[in-house]
Amino acid sequence: MSEPASARSADVQLVQAKPEHVSELGRICYEAFKDIADQHGFPPDFPSARFARFVIGMLVGRQDVYGVAALVDGELAGSNYISLTDPVSGIGPISVDCAFQGRDIGRKLMQAVIDHARANRIERVRLLQDAFNTASLSLYASLGFDVKHAVAYLRLAPASAADHSIRPVEERDLDVLDQLCLRNYKSSRRNELAAAVHAGLSPLARQRDGRLTGYLIPGVFGHGVAESEQDAVAIACQAARLLPPARAFCFCPLDNGSLFRAFLKAGCRTVKMMNLMAMGPYEQPAPVWMPSVLY
Ligand SMILES: CC(C)(COP(=O)(O)OP(=O)(O)OC[C@H]1O[C@@H](n2cnc3c(N)ncnc32)[C@H](O)[C@@H]1OP(=O)(O)O)[C@@H](O)C(=O)NCCC(=O)NCCS
Repeated sequence: MSEPASARSADVQLVQAKPEHVSELGRICYEAFKDIADQHGFPPDFPSARFARFVIGMLVGRQDVYGVAALVDGELAGSNYISLTDPVSGIGPISVDCAFQGRDIGRKLMQAVIDHARANRIERVRLLQDAFNTASLSLYASLGFDVKHAVAYLRLAPASAADHSIRPVEERDLDVLDQLCLRNYKSSRRNELAAAVHAGLSPLARQRDGRLTGYLIPGVFGHGVAESEQDAVAIACQAARLLPPARAFCFCPLDNGSLFRAFLKAGCRTVKMMNLMAMGPYEQPAPVWMPSVLY
């Protein structure tokens, strides 16, 4: 028989995640994600504790991200993050120290970032979760998130030749590309795209017939939109040709079967399946769109 919630609940203190927490929160994040991935035979999201510390450090350092850390008896036990960059907020990565899991800490960390979104009058909150992760699926569903799309996480295949219709996104492209994003995603991601340009995250755009027909920020934190499947695949495979293999990834919504087939035909490979979950109003995006690990 399972324990009543009151017996297993940890006495948790929630505080804003700070630079002095990064090292320990990075370790927790690495170990928690590795533990669940190992259980299911998938590669870990964070290849090393060092990389997890880098990601957590980056999130904690950003003004447009709110991070919350959980403390049990003064000891760090987990953390969670929410982006406030654009009108839709994305949650993650959430992790709870393996030694503290199953004691309601994950639920409290989720509620804390949802409350933060509400306090900032953000109605639309979204996330992606690993389809194999029955715990996080149940946690998010019980908090009010609905599954909107099954999504494939793809390892991109490098294009065999240069494509001169594809070039880096520049500051002057932001307005036009955001129009395309609004048309397809039904929501602006302008600030995110601008941040990717400034941070050197190598967003690429395609210019065809005298106009911009799509863009992609490659990698797990990237996203993209395009006028056609051909534009999306051409940009993605060109990104794989130009970038180190560790950054040659993107997501494909599986309800667009024809886009998925186009990626497969280009040699891209499915790493795992995820679910895009949403809380609050949701407008169905129009093809072609590729989410980030946040939404
Ligand atoms: C997912 C994670 C953050 C949950 O944190 P946690 O503190 O262990 O979870 P909680 O004790 O708050 O449980 C919250 C809910 O999760 C669900 N849950 C937890 N373990 C579960 C399991 N083994 N099976 C099904 N549901 C489970 C339940 O709905 C539970 O609520 P309930 O017991 O009141 O019904 C934690 O397991 C973790 O760090 N995992 C590794 C990293 C990760 O997977 N992050 C999410 C990526 S999508």
